[in-house]
Amino acid sequence: MASFYSLYKTILFTLFVLLTSASSSSSSTYYLSNIVVNSTAEFINHTAISEFRILNRRVLAKCPDPNPYLSITTASNSSLSDEGFVTVHVSGVLLPSKGDWVGMISPSYSDVSSCPFNAIQYQQTGDLSQLPLLCHYPVKAQYLSKDPGYLRCKKKECKKYVKGSCVERSCSASLSFHVVNFRTDIEFVLFAGGFATPCILKTSNKLSFTNPKQPLHAHLSTIDSTGTSMRVTWVSGDRAPQQLQYGNGKSVPSKVSTFTQNDMCSAFPKSPAKDFGWHDPGFIHSAVMTGLNPSTTYSYTYGSDSAGWSGKINLKTPPAGGSDEVRFLAYGDMGKAPRDPSAEHYIQPGSLAVTKAMADEISSGNNVDSIFHIGDISYATGFLVEWDYFLQLITPVASHVSYMTAIGNHERDYVGTGSVYGTPDSGGECGVPYETYFQMPTAAKDKPWYSTEQGSVHFTIISTEHNWSHNSDQYEWMRKDMASVDRSRTPWLIFMGHRPMYSSVNGVFLKSVDEDFVKAVEPLLLANKVDLALWGHVHNYERSCAVYQKECKALPTKGAGGIDTYDNTNYTAPVHAVIGMAGFSLDKFPSDADKWSLVRIAEFGYVRVHATTKALRIEYVNANTRKLEDSFQITRS
Ligand SMILES: *[C@@H]1O[C@H](CO)[C@@H](O)[C@H](O)[C@H]1NC(C)=O
Ligand SMILES: *[C@@H]1O[C@H](CO)[C@@H](O)[C@H](O)[C@H]1NC(C)=O
Ligand SMILES: *[C@@H]1O[C@H](CO)[C@@H](O)[C@H](O)[C@H]1NC(C)=O
Ligand SMILES: *[C@@H]1O[C@H](CO)[C@@H](O)[C@H](O)[C@H]1NC(C)=O
Ligand SMILES: *[C@@H]1O[C@H](CO)[C@@H](O)[C@H](O)[C@H]1NC(C)=O
Ligand SMILES: [Fe+2]
Repeated sequence: MASFYSLYKTILFTLFVLLTSASSSSSSTYYLSNIVVNSTAEFINHTAISEFRILNRRVLAKCPDPNPYLSITTASNSSLSDEGFVTVHVSGVLLPSKGDWVGMISPSYSDVSSCPFNAIQYQQTGDLSQLPLLCHYPVKAQYLSKDPGYLRCKKKECKKYVKGSCVERSCSASLSFHVVNFRTDIEFVLFAGGFATPCILKTSNKLSFTNPKQPLHAHLSTIDSTGTSMRVTWVSGDRAPQQLQYGNGKSVPSKVSTFTQNDMCSAFPKSPAKDFGWHDPGFIHSAVMTGLNPSTTYSYTYGSDSAGWSGKINLKTPPAGGSDEVRFLAYGDMGKAPRDPSAEHYIQPGSLAVTKAMADEISSGNNVDSIFHIGDISYATGFLVEWDYFLQLITPVASHVSYMTAIGNHERDYVGTGSVYGTPDSGGECGVPYETYFQMPTAAKDKPWYSTEQGSVHFTIISTEHNWSHNSDQYEWMRKDMASVDRSRTPWLIFMGHRPMYSSVNGVFLKSVDEDFVKAVEPLLLANKVDLALWGHVHNYERSCAVYQKECKALPTKGAGGIDTYDNTNYTAPVHAVIGMAGFSLDKFPSDADKWSLVRIAEFGYVRVHATTKALRIEYVNANTRKLEDSFQITRS
């Protein structure tokens, strides 16, 4: 650990020297070494950084001569509802420019002046291309040219008449920003100079949320395998315990937790979470409904008289472990995307279509019992306001059925903090926001592995980011957990973790598959007759043969309807599927593939699984067309 840490510091220091010495030799462009340029190109291709993300890498210059007519206002001064769009109006512009843009800043008192030393902090999220600027990160931003009339000055206004004729004409633009209730007030700041060399022109009026205490974003999880209890977790600006009301007049008080800037991890230099990416999460409330029946619909509300109440919501309990069947959806790497034309720090373009498709499936009564999200959850990565947007995005699914999660590198990893991989992928979150928002039935803090049973399936869910070596806590746990499965009760054993054991996509700098992980854990999968292993991390869909140590132990045959069927009556090896195609920019497959790889498709979507006692049926749904891209089944007679 210590050596990793100092190596990391050395690399950052070297970069810092490179960047700072380079910028002093040239005022308009920065010289970057080839290593920096190449790794940035690599990173952009694999993680979809928007141009906006490199915003804070610039030095804030003084705007030349702001004109006297310039104004930035919001269409209404009334306070903000829990979700909606704010129209921002910029007028009195004498010379419209491509480089004019508006940033949405929250809280309004944040310092958006120049913070040149943020350069080194930004490098922690992997982006090494530019120098930083703003001391506090904008939630989102848009160029005024998004208004098609702006640059051509279609909306002319006269600012000064001399003897009845207009001598000063000005131009204007309107922009729409999607806002969810993240509790802190907002202001809009007008910048010139583009994202690359911005300077502040003008600041708008401030806007507050009507009720920053409003209880919001309920999502469900199970606490055991009985299907008789359900945990509800929600967010509110109010610290006082609230009530969860359900069934026929039952009520249970919430347990309240939160986390602070001090709970964020950091190295030298500070992480985004610890510094300019921080946003106050309010309070996370959680309460457990008990005495329910499995596979049954109930309604619930949550809140308090002083903070406000949610509407009435329907939920469905999952089937009890050991019962005949279960239907669930699964995927990894979803994240979120803006519902307006804004640039944001991290955008996962497929996430909107995928959540919409799943919400349609659930609301059309398509018998979904639960959802499994296998790591890389929100991609907030130290920009904490993005958790509120993510929670708002998944509420249409996660408030109705249990939303079970596994941790990914973008929730947990940070150098020197006990993650297996010493990359700063969590931006300094170190799993703290993840564990607070997604309270899974794990044994202890920062031990995010657990098992659960629903219908005919036993799920063993691990953290690939925590020690999985022989004799580690987690290894011992998974060994015991899988050995204890009663296959007459739950005939199917599904293993889930974030980083895959099999993928045809191999990163150049960072490998998709860690051979040490495969060496340590794959034998356990075989020994315990795991039927199906589901993974994320790589952003596409790939299905294997029944495989062990890269060799096909069995191939599927065509069953009824021509569907690929793996007969596990005489078990040979696990079938692996990478399902990290739920939002993040898709990864292309290389043209050739190993024999173990049977199906490779890169489209946004999720898998739908139906497990009975005789068959495990898997369908890969394309979120945009709603067509099945792949289907297969595993059977046992
Ligand atoms: C970076 O890429 C350039 C071509 O774009 C190549 O010539 C150079 O060798 C690369 N440098 C490193 C360190 O990989
Ligand atoms: C990034 O993607 C673009 C477009 O697909 C490609 O032309 C380029 O070679 C890629 N760069 C790297 C470093 O993989
Ligand atoms: C909002 O308030 C500001 C000053 O506080 C004012 O200049 C502006 O005209 C108001 N806008 C509306 C739409 O009422
Ligand atoms: C993982 O656990 C093993 C067994 O306890 C231990 O030897 C090893 O040092 C641990 N690795 C790390 C990175 O902590
Ligand atoms: C499983 O193995 C047994 C014994 O070798 C054999 O009789 C049976 O046909 C096999 N079943 C299948 C479905 O392959
Ligand atoms: Fe990942």
